[in-house]
Amino acid sequence: MKKETKKKIQIMEILEEELRKHVLSLNLCSTLEKAALYTLELPGKRLRPTFLMTSALDFDVEEKIALRGAVAVEMMHTASLIHDDLPAIDNDDYRRGKPSNHVMFGEDTAIMAGDLLFVRALDICNELGDPSLSNAFSRTLIELVDGEMRDIAMSKANGKNDDIVKMYKKKTGALFAFAFSFGPRLKGKNVEKYEEAGYDFGISFQIFDDIADINSTFEEIGKTPHKDLKQHKSTLVQRIGVEESKKFADTLYRRVLENLKDSPKLLSEIKNVEDTVRRE
Ligand code: IPE
Ligand code: IPE
Ligand code: MG
Ligand code: MG
Ligand code: MG
Repeated sequence: MKKETKKKIQIMEILEEELRKHVLSLNLCSTLEKAALYTLELPGKRLRPTFLMTSALDFDVEEKIALRGAVAVEMMHTASLIHDDLPAIDNDDYRRGKPSNHVMFGEDTAIMAGDLLFVRALDICNELGDPSLSNAFSRTLIELVDGEMRDIAMSKANGKNDDIVKMYKKKTGALFAFAFSFGPRLKGKNVEKYEEAGYDFGISFQIFDDIADINSTFEEIGKTPHKDLKQHKSTLVQRIGVEESKKFADTLYRRVLENLKDSPKLLSEIKNVEDTVRRE
């Protein structure tokens, strides 16, 4: 095995341990602890923490700091998934190939587990002691929540193409923007093009997720397929079709590569996961 691959596996194992540790250290009541750990420990793709740690590598950020950022970003993402699946929102009984959090623990506990992971994520980021990073992470959560709310609103009244893209940028793009700009932000560099790349990546990622909802099986996506139509979701795919949506996602993807020219490890990581993202 190549030294680099070995190191990567090692880091991902440490990430899993750290995710667990940062919940256990809170000494919570056992139901909340179990519920928070349940979705967190299910096998997600761990894309956001991987991108964040790669961005950190490109800018020589210490591994210990990068790992903390990675835990924070995966916790915020997981919290958003727990709430996203709730009956009042997307009403999905499956997540990461297993019953959703509310199916296992009840809606009341799932709401609390989501709340807990959102706050713990902010907490871990704050502990890094960089006000600009903390501000960026709080703004990320505000965007994510605003994006989810726009999604909810648009399932009641159809959204226009531009509004849908804006909703994708917020609900999905914001977390990628934070991950892509982690390294340069900690080194006091201009983060604009890295954030832009993260938003573009997130929009294209969401488009492929919406296509997967139509074309993939439960075994492939680990969540209920054909959900978006049933829940009256406004998606770009539903408005302009699969082929046009893919073309748009590809245009954004080319811009991502262009904007990441000065972050070579992140650039190559994005190319590495291309098939996973496109689900091909
Ligand atoms: C799911 O994200 C939510 C979307 C933004 C579409 P992922 O597809 O990255 O989910 P996990 O983390 O691998 O479960
Ligand atoms: C993204 O949208 C979810 C979040 C940003 C939390 P979806 O609702 O399409 O995500 P999935 O399909 O449930 O993973
Ligand atoms: Mg949703
Ligand atoms: Mg959903
Ligand atoms: Mg989806």
